[in-house]
Amino acid sequence: MEAGPQILVVKDLTKIYQVGPSQVRAVNGINLEIRSGETVAVMGPSGSGKTTLLHLIAGLERPDNGSIQIGGSYLHKMSDASISAFRARFIGFIFQAFNLIPTLTALENVELARRIAGLRDAKKHAAELLERVDLGERTKHKPGQLSGGEQQRVAIARALVNNPALILADEPTGELDSESSRGVIDILLTAVRERGSACILVTHNPDVADVADRVFTMRDGRLQEK
Ligand SMILES: Nc1ncnc2c1ncn2[C@@H]1O[C@H](COP(=O)(O)OP(=O)(O)O)[C@@H](O)[C@H]1O
Ligand SMILES: [Mg+2]
Repeated sequence: MEAGPQILVVKDLTKIYQVGPSQVRAVNGINLEIRSGETVAVMGPSGSGKTTLLHLIAGLERPDNGSIQIGGSYLHKMSDASISAFRARFIGFIFQAFNLIPTLTALENVELARRIAGLRDAKKHAAELLERVDLGERTKHKPGQLSGGEQQRVAIARALVNNPALILADEPTGELDSESSRGVIDILLTAVRERGSACILVTHNPDVADVADRVFTMRDGRLQEK
């Protein structure tokens, strides 16, 4: 694949948690660059800092040191309000436990993300994306009326509806059986490549890591390329 322009540039990123008298370096001096159209898998044991890394890049937590540049904007220099607006517009986040709003339908869950991003034609784009993830027949279902695989496909549609430059997926298939996992990963990776987004995919599944462009392992807050 022809490598596109840099979307994410992370330099010397560090996050330290103070737990009682001791300090945990959850993310310890990480450097990472990802280009448009590229999917990077991150593996590694539980507690190695994978979620913390994604949260820092999404601006959900603040680093203690280092810089995060997304599409030329420096996240670590922004106010909290600016970070929220930036995330809504330029980042798609996919959680292991789907995190859909239970009282809203599939369509409304996806629509809302586009409205929050301040983009037009929310309903139209949401409906198109649900069609794209093979849920055209499930738009009026609420999350509780959908299977795990279906809920995660709604979450993928939600993560894509703002046309994000960067997609962050934290063990998106962790609660799915292997068949649903394959469907979810196929849809996600195809969308990333088609749209020229960049994607960081945290996973324990070696099959998933096989389809990524690069694979990293995280250990004790450090990232190593395989
Ligand atoms: N809010 C927090 N307060 C204190 N320690 C935390 C917090 N979040 C994570 N940690 C610690 O940081 C380390 C990395 O956690 P995490 O990023 O969740 O790892 P992973 O996603 O790889 O399982 C762990 O030792 C964890 O206990
Ligand atoms: Mg985690």
